[in-house]
Amino acid sequence: MSFKSFRLLGFFALTFSLALASDGSPLQDFCVANPNNQVLVNGASCKDPKQVQAGDFLFTGLHLPGNTSNPAGSKATLVTAAQLPGLNTLGVSMVRIDYAPWGINPPHTHPRASEILTVLEGTLEVGFVTSNPDNRLITKVLNKGDVFVFPVGLIHFQRNTGNGYAVAIAAFNSQNPGVITIANAVFGSKPDISIDILTKAFQADKNVISQFQAKF
Ligand SMILES: *[C@@H]1O[C@H](CO)[C@@H](O)[C@H](O)[C@H]1NC(C)=O
Repeated sequence: MSFKSFRLLGFFALTFSLALASDGSPLQDFCVANPNNQVLVNGASCKDPKQVQAGDFLFTGLHLPGNTSNPAGSKATLVTAAQLPGLNTLGVSMVRIDYAPWGINPPHTHPRASEILTVLEGTLEVGFVTSNPDNRLITKVLNKGDVFVFPVGLIHFQRNTGNGYAVAIAAFNSQNPGVITIANAVFGSKPDISIDILTKAFQADKNVISQFQAKF
């Protein structure tokens, strides 16, 4: 095989694996999640289609501001398959994010989805960091109506840079994007990651690490 066709094959293998990185396509009209079924499958098992009601495809309340009285000063109100059973197997979900003045949505990643976000109110400084070895910060200040995308798996954040409240709506290409908040995962795991490991990993004093562990 020539180098060129080998590279082409690699390209197709890559696009194929990227296509598999989001939720698979459904094989029926819908598969409304049945929370009472104890069968463990990838996603949730289906409710009997004859028992399905319009309410299974409905979530109400996303017009309501989330409570941002917390140390970060933000609140994410999720609408995933857990809150909207009709999303099961459909590969999409959304979130409303409220920000107090100067509040942040701390650095986090969604292991199973890209995120497309639009600002409804206020001004947000947003950014994500590319993978190793570059770790380049891609950042932008967004105003009302601006749309920004956070590629799947990359660490990203938002900050309200105004003195008023800010609101964003975002969509995901997964019914269950998952959230890994960096500080909570690294310093707040249960049980703790050994302090010796974190001391070496962060090139920091033991006291600094235990301070972080106490916070998270
Ligand atoms: C918002 O959260 C704070 C902290 O948990 C709590 O004290 C407060 O009562 C909440 N406010 C509302 C309106 O629920």
